[in-house]
Amino acid sequence: ALSPIDKAKFVAARRAVAFVEDGMRLGLGTGSTAAWMVRCLADRVQNEGLRVTGVPTSTRTAELARQLGIRITSLDEAKWLDLTIDGADEFDANLALIKGGGGALLQEKIVATASDQMIVITDAAKEVAHLGAFPLPVEVIPFGWQTTRALVGETLGSLDVLGREVTLRMNGDRPFVTDEGNYILDLHLGRIDNPRQLSLVMNQIPGVVENGLFIDICDIVIVGHGDGRVDVRD
Ligand code: A5P
Repeated sequence: ALSPIDKAKFVAARRAVAFVEDGMRLGLGTGSTAAWMVRCLADRVQNEGLRVTGVPTSTRTAELARQLGIRITSLDEAKWLDLTIDGADEFDANLALIKGGGGALLQEKIVATASDQMIVITDAAKEVAHLGAFPLPVEVIPFGWQTTRALVGETLGSLDVLGREVTLRMNGDRPFVTDEGNYILDLHLGRIDNPRQLSLVMNQIPGVVENGLFIDICDIVIVGHGDGRVDVRD
């Protein structure tokens, strides 16, 4: 039997995969919840003969999809996607998200933005009144990253946020490196009052590639519960 948290992720994933139709081009998200989605999708491919093409948002997801027999391609090959299904680290009542806990925010944002629709799958613990308790990931290029971090910190000083600590994400005793060869700064903000402004301002800093705020990108959030119930928010 699944633990309540895995059950919540599984039922959310299964419901999202029910939105998939034959012939669709799909963005495949990253993380433990998205991995359930890839498994549910593979089940439908196998059992119903569903034909789909997936564009993975990370090497991890690409590997899993390949193992399970889902046809995958690159975004440039697919050009445009019908639907992306992905997890998130936080979501609010406007369906704004923080993503990037797994470090794949850049590909995730490119893929979700190239999709007609984005469905987020999550457990109830990730719903928040205000984004920002989860540290906001900001992807930066390694060149001059300490200068970039200082600029990020200075910029936060002029914004309405509670916390201002900026940490370099580590992998053991080395910086964590993204699939694109970049670093991640985690911004410990506590509470983000104006996510739209913060996102715009962050992306204007030289050296910043992208941030983990997803605003006006997600169309539906599917919330799974440990007892098997599912809520759909749109
Ligand atoms: C990956 O970069 C993230 O955006 C994930 O979508 C997020 O961390 C959710 O992961 P879990 O489903 O494992 O919580």
